[in-house]
Amino acid sequence: MPSHFVLLGLLIASCNFVALASDPSPLQDLCVADTSRVLVHGSAAPLFSNLSRPVLMNGFPCKNPNSVQAKDFSFSGLHLSGNASNPLGSKVTPVTVLQIPGLNTLGISIARLDFLPGGVNPPHTHPRATEIFTVIQGTFEVGFVTSNPENNLMTKVLNEGDVFVFPEGLVHFQRNKGTGNAIAIAGLSSQSPGVITVANSIFGSNPKIPNDLLAKAFQVDTKTVDSIMSKF
Ligand SMILES: *[C@@H]1O[C@H](CO)[C@@H](O)[C@H](O)[C@H]1NC(C)=O
Ligand SMILES: *[C@@H]1O[C@H](CO)[C@@H](O)[C@H](O)[C@H]1NC(C)=O
Repeated sequence: MPSHFVLLGLLIASCNFVALASDPSPLQDLCVADTSRVLVHGSAAPLFSNLSRPVLMNGFPCKNPNSVQAKDFSFSGLHLSGNASNPLGSKVTPVTVLQIPGLNTLGISIARLDFLPGGVNPPHTHPRATEIFTVIQGTFEVGFVTSNPENNLMTKVLNEGDVFVFPEGLVHFQRNKGTGNAIAIAGLSSQSPGVITVANSIFGSNPKIPNDLLAKAFQVDTKTVDSIMSKF
């Protein structure tokens, strides 16, 4: 039946689409983000929540090409250590489209990661990006877990100069296994990779997920759930 071929064609086309990229491809050379008219979700503070007529779109509108300058494609400061003096002992310094407006539509970004000895970047996922992680200094234990039903843990110890990939969407973590501070640089395949920290989204949501639901999900009692929730 021809309709089966059509269905098969659609299926193959959609698989190819999924495999191609996370962010949409650019349709022109440049589209430097104009962040002055935008209300966005997922940045630490919503940009310009006071606008009477904000632009609501996927990504950012383009700034007038006549006013684009080299500095729109530049960021300074990744030579500086992030302050990792916090309970996790780690600090991520992101350089996304919010720091470099010229990244808008280009599907790429970068981050610096600083760790104190024993510091952990806890299990998290980037909903929109694959991450390629390069050790600049120190020794890391890293890993990611594949999806159901296997839930295979892929883990490795990395030293200076070693590179590791965390595939898009998979839960992953890093820990400083050395005795000194550790530094890494990560490339990400999105202008805005996003971060979902597993513990924060499960135990620190606002409002809270019902504790009896989580007690059943984790096969523990509600007191244990409340105790974990109190930490977030
Ligand atoms: C909106 O807030 C931004 C940032 O606080 C400020 O720069 C801008 O002038 C404000 N715009 C209006 C229309 O109040
Ligand atoms: C680093 O952060 C800690 C905790 O917030 C703070 O006490 C300390 O002053 C910060 N250090 C620097 C160098 O900013």
